Amino acid sequence: MINENTNANELEAARQLGFINELRARFELEYQKTGRRKTYHIETFGCQMNAHDSEKMSGILKQIGYVETDTEDADFVLYNTCTVRENANNRVYGRLGTLGTIKKNHPGMIVALCGCMMQEEAVVEKIKTSFPFVDIIFGTHNIFKLAELIQTHLDSDRMIIDLWKDTDLIVENLPNDRKYPFKAGVNIMFGCNNFCSYCIVPYVRGRERSRNPQDIINEIKALAADGVIEVMLLGQNVNSYGKTLEKPVSFAQLLEQVEKIDGIERIRFMTSHPKDLSDELIEVMKNSKKICRHLHLPLQSGSSRLLKLMNRRYTKEDYLSLVEKIRNAMPDISLTTDIIVGFPGETEEDFEDTLDVVRRVGFDSAFTFIYSKRAGTPAATMKEQVDEELAKERFNRLLKEIQQSCTIASGRHVHSWQKVLVEEVNRQDPDYLTGRLSNNILVHFAGDKSLIGKIVDVYLEESKGFYYMGRL
Ligand code: 5AD
Ligand code: SF4
Repeated sequence: MINENTNANELEAARQLGFINELRARFELEYQKTGRRKTYHIETFGCQMNAHDSEKMSGILKQIGYVETDTEDADFVLYNTCTVRENANNRVYGRLGTLGTIKKNHPGMIVALCGCMMQEEAVVEKIKTSFPFVDIIFGTHNIFKLAELIQTHLDSDRMIIDLWKDTDLIVENLPNDRKYPFKAGVNIMFGCNNFCSYCIVPYVRGRERSRNPQDIINEIKALAADGVIEVMLLGQNVNSYGKTLEKPVSFAQLLEQVEKIDGIERIRFMTSHPKDLSDELIEVMKNSKKICRHLHLPLQSGSSRLLKLMNRRYTKEDYLSLVEKIRNAMPDISLTTDIIVGFPGETEEDFEDTLDVVRRVGFDSAFTFIYSKRAGTPAATMKEQVDEELAKERFNRLLKEIQQSCTIASGRHVHSWQKVLVEEVNRQDPDYLTGRLSNNILVHFAGDKSLIGKIVDVYLEESKGFYYMGRL
């Protein structure tokens, strides 16, 4: 079984490299004639997983011979979409309207759509009728086919739709185009099996599949050899990594192997599901010199009653005692979270429970969302949908609470020396640099851009709430 799959993966990778090379030759010929390279533009919506997928597709496009441009007036425009909340979908429809006008004045322009939103039948129907100028539609399971899809479109000039419900394929070793030379995302698993009752991800990203540990290690070794010092291990629920492998491996064991790779100095990961966060992981983190002192631990709600309806499989007390266990092991750890307000049936009492957890935990930062009804999920048919105004009012109350507790929590390292990975020249002041602490908080300080990509010691002089001002 494993062998069959490995073979299928390798065969597919070879096929795709074939399409990339054919297109490359074809584009090179056109370039000889016109003296102009074709341009591409990718617009990414949504999470880190999408951002990483976009890097892969960018790698394929560059290999074909496209050059990147930052405007949508390009020969190839790709929207990598998100559907986790309704407003993500609306933004895509809005942008598509404008893109249609641009395309009218740009002969030969190809418009492609991919990502989570495309995995929904109703969306694809709407695009076929309202945006017929779209050339290529594909989903989350077959991004590695990008070159093949472009080839098919060029040869037929029809709208190409290629959507898969699910897949076992994990196609390795295709080109990749990293945004930063010194840090990189690495997929360790795909899909999600949790079926939280509000969430559409398991329907659009399919069943949970883990990559082979050896493939992950090889990829990270190659990244390290290429100058990467920080890796972000990506999965919807990294704590259940490896459970479905032929030879099961735990996430903590994987981390121990990544720790041994020379050249890698920082290891991050996301997202952790509280129900699967093991004692073994806490122990490995505590003893590690490389794993960053940061955990993103989505709470979603502080009410045990709602957590049950959300199918989260932990209670308020479970969450609080998990936080205590983590803090006992690593007192300096930074905790961040996701919270949803206005889930169906949320009462004032449920909401107070959420506020209570926020106060008691003292998160370093929190992403807050108003519940958005996603067709096809169990929560969408729950009877007691919360009134929009009430949800907004609770959202604002939550924001206030979070601002207060986050300012205190994230300012606690002020007047200390910290290791900082320098990421870029400050966007407001070119004499300043911006870098990240191990706990993921940003710090701005005066310095020269030759330090970008290096880990330096910075004294944190002032806390500004969600970031620091420092001195080298
Ligand atoms: N409505 C609002 N927020 C949602 N999330 C996921 N689904 C929904 C939804 N239907 C939030 C969760 C998750 C984050 C990525 O998005 O908080 O952790
Ligand atoms: Fe969605 Fe829950 Fe899976 Fe996260 S764990 S992707 S919230 S179903």
